[in-house]
Amino acid sequence: MIRFEDVSVTYDGAAEPTVHGIELTVPEGELVLLVGPSGVGKSTLLGAVNGLVPHFTGGTLRGRVTVAGRDTRTHKPRELADVVGTVGQDPLSHFVTDTVEDELAYGMESLGLAPDVMRRRVEETLDLLGLVELRDRPISTLSGGQQQRVAIGSVLTPHPEVLVLDEPTVGLDPEQRMRFRELIARAGEGRTVLLSTHQTEDVAMLCHRVIVMVRGRVRFEGTPAELAARADGRVWSSTERDPGAWAGWRTGTGSFRNVGEPPEGADLLEPTLEDGYLLTLDGESPEEVAAA
Ligand SMILES: Nc1ncnc2c1ncn2[C@@H]1O[C@H](COP(=O)(O)OP(=O)(O)OP(=O)(O)O)[C@@H](O)[C@H]1O
Ligand SMILES: [Mg+2]
Repeated sequence: MIRFEDVSVTYDGAAEPTVHGIELTVPEGELVLLVGPSGVGKSTLLGAVNGLVPHFTGGTLRGRVTVAGRDTRTHKPRELADVVGTVGQDPLSHFVTDTVEDELAYGMESLGLAPDVMRRRVEETLDLLGLVELRDRPISTLSGGQQQRVAIGSVLTPHPEVLVLDEPTVGLDPEQRMRFRELIARAGEGRTVLLSTHQTEDVAMLCHRVIVMVRGRVRFEGTPAELAARADGRVWSSTERDPGAWAGWRTGTGSFRNVGEPPEGADLLEPTLEDGYLLTLDGESPEEVAAA
C-alpha cells in the first residue's frame, strides 16, 4: 500500500511547491494510473514513493509518504529497495551492469538472496519478458523497447510488493505496448502498482483507478468509467469545428468531434476516456476555486 498524507514538495530555489496537498491511497494489490500534462509533477509524486524525492533530488517534502508501512522520511531509498521497485522515465540511467542477465540479477544480489533462488528468478523473468535470446547481450546494444523490458525485468526479480513505473510505454511501438500492458497486468497480480503515462489507452485497458493531476494537484481520482462519464452529454459531432467547443478535432470520417458545452440540439456522441480526461483539464470547477 502507498499512502500520501497532505504531501507537498518544494524543490530548492523554487518559489512554490511543485506538488501540493496530495492526499492519496493506493490500496494493496491495485493498479493505479497517473495521468496529466507534461510538467504537472507526476515524476515528482512517483519519486516521493521510492524516496528519491527528496533524498536524492534535494528540496523539501512536507506531509508524510508511507510505503508498505515505512515512512520515506526515515527510510532512505536503499532501505525501501526490498519493497519498492522503480523504473524511471529514462531507462538508460537505471542500468548498473553491462549485460541483460547481470542486470536482472543485480537487485537480488544486493538483497542477499540464495544463488538458486536468484538463478530461478532470472530464468522466469527472461521468459516472461521475451528476453531469453538477448540474455548475454550488452545492454548498450539493445533497442529502446528492449532496454525498457530489461529495466522492468530488473525491478521484478526482487519481487517487490510495490512497483512504480514512470511512463514505461514511451518508446514502445503499438504491438510492444500491447504486450507491455499484458505483462503489467500479469506482473501486477497481487502487487500494488503506480504507473504514469500519457497514453489514455493504457489507462482504459490496465487500471483499477486513475488519477488526473493538474498543476501539482490531484484533480480527479476514480475508475476509468467514472472519468469517461465526466464527458457525458459534452461530446458532439459537427461538420465544421464548433468555435464554442473547448477542443475539437477532425476525425477519420471528415466530421469534427467537439468537447465542451454543446449547443442546443447538438448531435451528441458516446464519450471516451480521453474526452473525460480533456474535460478534466479544462479550467477549474467552482468548488476547486473555492477550495484553493
Ligand atoms: N530535481 C529537480 N529539481 C528542481 N526542479 C525539478 C526537479 N525535478 C522536477 N523539477 C520541476 O518540477 C516540475 C514538475 O516536474 P515533473 O518531472 O515532476 O513533471 P512530470 O509531470 O513528470 O512531467 P513529464 O510529463 O514531462 O514527465 C517541473 O517544473 C520541473 O522543472
Ligand atoms: Mg515525468
